[in-house]
This record gives sequence, C-alpha cells and structure tokens, in this order.
Amino acid sequence: MKLGRLNHVGVATPSIEKSVAIYRDLLGATKIHEPFDLPPQGVRVCFVDTPNSQVELLEPLGESSPIAKFLEKNPQGGQHHVCFEVPDIDSAKAEMEAKGARVLGEPRIGAHGTPVIFVHPKDMGGVLVELMETPKAPH
Ligand code: CO
Repeated sequence: MKLGRLNHVGVATPSIEKSVAIYRDLLGATKIHEPFDLPPQGVRVCFVDTPNSQVELLEPLGESSPIAKFLEKNPQGGQHHVCFEVPDIDSAKAEMEAKGARVLGEPRIGAHGTPVIFVHPKDMGGVLVELMETPKAPH
C-alpha cells in the first residue's frame, strides 16, 4: 500500500452555516461548495476548498448520526478525521486488516462518490483515518 494525497480533513460541526462563516470570514476561503445530505452515513456535508486540499464540514443528519455522538462530547464541534487517498479500497482494507488494524465496517460510497473505509483511531495513534479510493476525474 502507498499513502496517497491528503484529500480532506473532516470537521464535525453543529452548524455548517456557522462553520462556513468562520472559514469564509476569518480565513478568507472563497471556494465553498453547496452542502448536501449523505443519508447512508448520517451526515450533511459541505466542502471548503483550500489550494492543496479540502475541509469537509460534517453536520449530523438524523438521530443515529455518528456525528451526533461526537458533538455530545465536543459541543462546539472539532476535528473529526483525516482522509488520505489510496489507489484501491479493497486492497487497502485487506492490507490494513493483515497488518492488524481494525477497519470499521465494509467499504461504502463516500462524499466524493468513491468507496471509503475508516480505520479505528486506536490503531492509528488516536486519529480516525478515512481512506478513500482516488477519484478518476479531479474533483
Ligand atoms: Co471524510
């Protein structure tokens, strides 16, 4: 397996609208995408572009949202995960497991429309790591 580019940093927030204002007004972000719902993952998503990567703002969608739990512990929101690209998600999953890292669930379609997996923070030095198959066309 070869570590690919940092695709995005996932940030949980109680309000995408308020977080967008922070990135736009405090940090000067100019390319902010339209928010959209991702029901299979229980999140509403909004991407903020930076010159070399993206911030993925995540707001809870529905009662059983994994983000809701995170926000109980961190009511203001906070950094939730980092996402690296890999060439092939199935071989990345197999390799993670062969090396003893816990993969959370099966590959599923992520916010960029390509398959993703999450690797347990306990096997990643305390960081929840998302691995995503590199999109065929640049986002
Ligand atoms: Co993500």
